[in-house]
Amino acid sequence: MSGYEGFAPVYDEWASDMTDDVEFYVGLAAEADGPVVELAVGTGRISIPIALRTGRQVIGIDSSPAMLALARENAAGANVEVDLREGDMRDLDLVEASDLVICPYRALLHLPTWLDRRRVFERATRALRPGGRFVWNAFVFDHHYAARYDGKWQDEPKRHFTQYASGDNRVDITLEGGPTLSLWWVTHSEWNGLMDVAGLEASALYGWFDRRPFDDASREFVWVARKPA
Ligand SMILES: C[S@@+](CC[C@H](N)C(=O)[O-])C[C@H]1O[C@@H](n2cnc3c(N)ncnc32)[C@H](O)[C@@H]1O
Repeated sequence: MSGYEGFAPVYDEWASDMTDDVEFYVGLAAEADGPVVELAVGTGRISIPIALRTGRQVIGIDSSPAMLALARENAAGANVEVDLREGDMRDLDLVEASDLVICPYRALLHLPTWLDRRRVFERATRALRPGGRFVWNAFVFDHHYAARYDGKWQDEPKRHFTQYASGDNRVDITLEGGPTLSLWWVTHSEWNGLMDVAGLEASALYGWFDRRPFDDASREFVWVARKPA
């Protein structure tokens, strides 16, 4: 059982501070043609505004039935249709060719190994039309932040404990009385390596969703990769 089965009831509250990404992903979807695919759609935080604002078909894939149940509720509440499918992004195999595949809110960091990430990149590339884009964001590992929070409890946005396993590039987040979620951080050169092996070209790297250039002070990778036409 994925940690998200237990995390689902608090997810929307947990993610409530992350709002800057919505306009960014909606804007990309408005430029795309045909269906938009969101890997790890969660509760529909991004897919629902895309469907509402662009009218595009949105296919959302997630491995957690509890997260998908909330996405279904949220979509019904917004009176919009999102094509929600249970599945593992490592097994992505779509009939529909897409102009845009997205993976927001650091969800690729739930993949534990290089092989898992490589599979997702290869499958996302296969799902794209020539010229189509794969877009994702992920935090930049920050040793200052890790030193401050390793082995500590934090109260916001929900009380949780953070523990770093540097030898595995991993941070474990445990909700009080609840499940543990693990994230494996990825370096700049690894992201480039993944695009390289999957046959994608980096078309932009931003430091935040306002499209500011990525630099040494950036704490978020916002990548836009393109499948060559
Ligand atoms: C941080 S949430 C992101 C949700 C959504 N994309 C958003 O922006 O709010 C991570 C999601 O990834 C899903 N997930 C984790 N590993 C997955 C995998 N291998 N395949 C599909 N979904 C996965 C979890 O179930 C969870 O819903």
